[in-house]
Amino acid sequence: MSQKIAFITGGNRGLGFQTALDLKDAGVKVVIGSRDLAQGEKAVEKLRAAGVDADVLQFDITKPADFQTAYDYFNSKYGRLDILVNNAGIAAGVFPGTGPEHSATQVPADLLHKVFETNFFAPIGLTSALLPLLKKSPAGRIVNLSSILGSLNLHADPNSPIYHAKSFAYDASKTALNAYTIHLAYELRDTKIKVNSAHPGWVKTDMGGDQAPIELSEGGKTSAALATLPDDGPTGGYFHLGKPLPW
Ligand SMILES: NC(=O)c1ccc[n+]([C@@H]2O[C@H](COP(=O)([O-])OP(=O)(O)OC[C@H]3O[C@@H](n4cnc5c(N)ncnc54)[C@H](OP(=O)(O)O)[C@@H]3O)[C@@H](O)[C@H]2O)c1
Repeated sequence: MSQKIAFITGGNRGLGFQTALDLKDAGVKVVIGSRDLAQGEKAVEKLRAAGVDADVLQFDITKPADFQTAYDYFNSKYGRLDILVNNAGIAAGVFPGTGPEHSATQVPADLLHKVFETNFFAPIGLTSALLPLLKKSPAGRIVNLSSILGSLNLHADPNSPIYHAKSFAYDASKTALNAYTIHLAYELRDTKIKVNSAHPGWVKTDMGGDQAPIELSEGGKTSAALATLPDDGPTGGYFHLGKPLPW
């Protein structure tokens, strides 16, 4: 039981892929979720070449049938799950952006629903489905990929660095995800499972864009650290590189 089993959604590219790489030295078997199996297989080849013990599961977080598929996969192969990184996510337009898709008054309703479906409802559905397996772990860890853009305190503060970086659908979906982190951690407070929200930094990925100041190789650190927290580590928090962020 020494090797930990992790599931990272959206692990075929970007921060999910980097987090899988960063778990290499922690004795973790990493299963990446990829909605395109061929892309996932290519990513697994790269991970294995880098020394990561990796597999791929075809997985679309917006398809509830895939929650059961994931449960069956981990239950039949391992009988438990140690780490769930709810990483898959979508933006509402390009960052940084000022178009109507970022506006609270003009965001198309279907876009608002789509962003909440992927970034909020889907991780909750998946986590609920996998919770019985996480409860079987001696040290279950759930990492919800939030963003500093989910911080209400910082968005409300005219002096904060994100005051003008407003993208309503995305930001609100991450604020809601943060609420889930707090509520889930509360409900699991008497278990061995720790639940935290991660802000990876503004990272050069397809979502983060070329202007992002942080290289991808640095961007997985917060997720990897929260995925491997020691037993005396925090739960119900919101962190970037070990430092708490204001909700
Ligand atoms: N980059 C940043 O600066 C930054 C900052 C703060 C927070 N974040 C958060 O970090 C997470 C990863 O972001 P990223 O920058 O790595 O984004 P990315 O490069 O756009 O990658 C997103 C990943 O999510 C997957 N995904 C999207 N919709 C999915 C679905 N319905 N089912 C399964 N997988 C799906 C994508 O799969 P496909 O390849 O199939 O599209 C891809 O693997 C997101 O939750 C994001 O909000 C990023």
